Amino acid sequence: MSEFISAEEIEQAAGIIQQEISQKPRVGMILGSGLGSLAEEVENAVIIPYGDIPTWPVSTVEGHQGRLVIGSLENQEVLVMQGRAHYYEGYSMTQVGFPVRVMQQLGLEILIVTNAAGAVNPDFKPGDVMLITDHLNFLGMAGESPLRGPNLDQFGPRFPDIGIAYDRELGEFSRQSAEDGGFPLHEGIYVCLAGPSFETPADLRFLQLIGVDAVGMSTVPEVTVARHGGMRTLGLSTISNKANLDGKTTTSHEEVLAAGKIVLPRLIHIIKGVLRRL
Ligand code: HPA
Repeated sequence: MSEFISAEEIEQAAGIIQQEISQKPRVGMILGSGLGSLAEEVENAVIIPYGDIPTWPVSTVEGHQGRLVIGSLENQEVLVMQGRAHYYEGYSMTQVGFPVRVMQQLGLEILIVTNAAGAVNPDFKPGDVMLITDHLNFLGMAGESPLRGPNLDQFGPRFPDIGIAYDRELGEFSRQSAEDGGFPLHEGIYVCLAGPSFETPADLRFLQLIGVDAVGMSTVPEVTVARHGGMRTLGLSTISNKANLDGKTTTSHEEVLAAGKIVLPRLIHIIKGVLRRL
């Protein structure tokens, strides 16, 4: 693979997937750390390991199974990514965004992105879910955009407007879904940092000062590609830990995975409710 992806690489990967399925998926989903078991609810599933798809970035992190699950959920045809690749694994932003390009090539209209995140907002606690209303694209500001390089005009313009990164109707469906599940749904701003180290207390105080509610290491690259290609996006953060603002606690990946198990029923409830309302 060269530094940037080509239309041929996208077409080739989409062709391999298309050969395996008879469905025409409409909704793509990316399941974050410890959240992959939602894919087990998919009916009539066709499973494709990432390693079988050329150019597809394979996740190296525990808690990311690394396969596509394609089938139906709540009467919607879905294509679910059980695990994702991250920038900190050594993938370029272009590679991190590649699966979303393939989804666009396959004609998917909607992307639901989930992640595990640390709570910067003091009102949030582990086990909560946050609807992402907007994001701060730190990596993009620093020059690391998945859209860097030759523009793929067939997907979108050179200078895309992402003023509405997260679809308002899908956000409203999420609120309704949490309400009928009888649990709270927070709303706020997500920031994607490069990681893999968790933040210092000074980092976190800075993030709090500029209005961040939750911090993680993913989502923004995929949403940027999704919006460039005109997909509607929904972003949901599961809060796995309180950010270490006072320097007195520690954060670990094990904690993040354990919190994923607890919050999963809520996340599944929201996503199923959204799918039913589409
Ligand atoms: N910081 C960054 N990424 C994360 C965190 C965190 O506290 N928790 C889960 N992903």
